[in-house]
Amino acid sequence: MDKLIISGGAPLGGEIRISGAKNAVLPILAAALLADDTVTIANVPHLHDVTTSMELLGRMGVGLVVDEKMNIEVDPRTISTFEAPYELVKTMRASILVLGPLVARYGAADVSLPGGCAIGSRPVNLHVKGLQALGADISVEQGYIKARAKRLVGNRLVMDMVTVTGTENLMMAAALASGESIIENAAREPEVVDLANFINQMGGKIEGAGTDTIYVQGVENLHGTEYRVMPDRIESGTYLVAAAISGGRIKLKNTRPDIMDAVLQSLREAGAIITLGDDWIELDMEGRRPRSVDIRTAPYPAFPTDMQAQFTALNAVAEGVGTITETVFENRFMHVHEMQRMGADVRVEGNTAIIRGVKRLTGAPVMATDLRASASLVLAGLVAEGDTVVDRIYHIDRGYECIEEKLAQLGAKIRRVPS
Ligand code: EPZ
Repeated sequence: MDKLIISGGAPLGGEIRISGAKNAVLPILAAALLADDTVTIANVPHLHDVTTSMELLGRMGVGLVVDEKMNIEVDPRTISTFEAPYELVKTMRASILVLGPLVARYGAADVSLPGGCAIGSRPVNLHVKGLQALGADISVEQGYIKARAKRLVGNRLVMDMVTVTGTENLMMAAALASGESIIENAAREPEVVDLANFINQMGGKIEGAGTDTIYVQGVENLHGTEYRVMPDRIESGTYLVAAAISGGRIKLKNTRPDIMDAVLQSLREAGAIITLGDDWIELDMEGRRPRSVDIRTAPYPAFPTDMQAQFTALNAVAEGVGTITETVFENRFMHVHEMQRMGADVRVEGNTAIIRGVKRLTGAPVMATDLRASASLVLAGLVAEGDTVVDRIYHIDRGYECIEEKLAQLGAKIRRVPS
């Protein structure tokens, strides 16, 4: 397994281009299964999770052609099996996203249960419950969700909890059901909107995506299309924190400031001067140390849980005491123990981390446990004295395209070594 070695100290400066959104391209690749023809997806980030998704679709017999710009042409007409095997699903939980499209389009799906994950139990009971309400017969046998349906029938679905991929799975399933579906207490994340736009471009009839009530008029079939994936708001936020934590200045291009209000507000509270354009964000700390901020994660448009670990790192070196409350997942503070080894003054009480900023962290060998925790350890390494060695960085490669190249472009001293 590769490692990243970061030598801390230099404030980051410069500009980078933001990649396509991981959490938009994963459901969109699954939604390609709904089409009767080829679809072409552009602005696809070069991530391990995208490779895994393509392997999953390829195993089903779906045709895939990738060009040098990472545009992917998906041809679902050659599909031969409707199975998502455990060996792939255990490496990427988002594989569950093929469940809805397979049942809606082909009437059958055998998808492995994802199993647990470092940040929490993350059950998929609401995905299953929603598909049953749309008329699917579902049994769970030997760790697989086995779903069958002649044709799904539209229904009113009230989600017990806000679930992003649950909303996405059911929106995809309802798109080809007969009649209308209403999804209430739906997730409002921008990636849900991107998926709805993609399905509508294939001839779907979805309204209300981005609000807590989504209306889906089922159609007989969906045709091919070409679609460009939205920019990644979490990658954007991560690089903004990289500049904020190091007292630097950064400009992000090809991004979406309009869907980042909660993160931008917290960065301003930390003392950042932020200017915005339609597709760019500039952050300047003017060489100052950040101020501590209080964060409480919750579903969009509130502060995103996927930015929580990055702000834990920011608070670790900020002036003052900051609190971070995680309300979405039950175990998303593993990065805290690793940061304590770097000298961070953090204590966790229930689902809240209380962080007293220190002037200087010290570099140490640390271990990544999940995607965003590993990013936060890289951020802490950027400002720590000496070298930080982040192990198990396959987590990072799942969600950040060329992270060491982009950080090196900003002046960071970072290199990847095979372990
Ligand atoms: C999506 O995961 C994202 N992944 C996650 O990003 C993100 O952290 C999460 O949404 C929250 O924003 C993708 O979009 C591929 P949820 P998802 O269903 O859909 C509970 C990253 O770092 N729940 O919204 O799996 C669940 O346990 C990843 O990019 C049920 O109980 O999250 C959690 O506590 C990490 N039953 C809460 O809901 C269900 O059937 C929210 O989970 C479904 C969810």
